[in-house]
Amino acid sequence: MERTFVMVKPDGVQRGLIGEVVSRIERKGMKIVAMKMLHITQETAERHYAEHRGKPFFNALVDYITSGPVVAMVVEGKNAISVIRKLVGKTNPVEADPGTIRGDLAMDIGRNIVHASDSPESAEREIGIFFSSEEVIDYRKFDEIWVYEQ
Ligand code: RTP
Ligand code: MG
Repeated sequence: MERTFVMVKPDGVQRGLIGEVVSRIERKGMKIVAMKMLHITQETAERHYAEHRGKPFFNALVDYITSGPVVAMVVEGKNAISVIRKLVGKTNPVEADPGTIRGDLAMDIGRNIVHASDSPESAEREIGIFFSSEEVIDYRKFDEIWVYEQ
């Protein structure tokens, strides 16, 4: 099983799409093992998006992600990182396929509703920024035998 970091961004929260995003993750068969709402500080935003520091969109990105509360999650499942990235769709909603979160629900690259880790290294780093180890819950979900072939 793999873990990934997922976040409903401020536009997703403001547009009432928390439930829609969570629902798509649940319906896919993935397990949410941590979740909280928080207002990201400038410092945390710069740390989370450190790889983009120096790029032309960096300041706008930090302003965007700190502009209102977000919902942060840790999601667990087989191949969770690539499965969630596919569910989320391409970075630019104009190019994101219908059926994906960004393809169905967003219009602008700077308002693309959701974040998802892009590699095992990013997932580990990002989970560590937002959650302590006690906040990530280890539990058995009863539907596992129906989601995965044993
Ligand atoms: P995210 O990290 O938020 O899940 O998005 P991503 O992997 O699909 O895209 P990434 O390249 O990591 O970019 C992070 C966020 O920065 C904004 N962005 N704006 N104006 C631009 O050219 C541009 N490029 C990226 C987007 O909000 C993107 O999600
Ligand atoms: Mg990214």
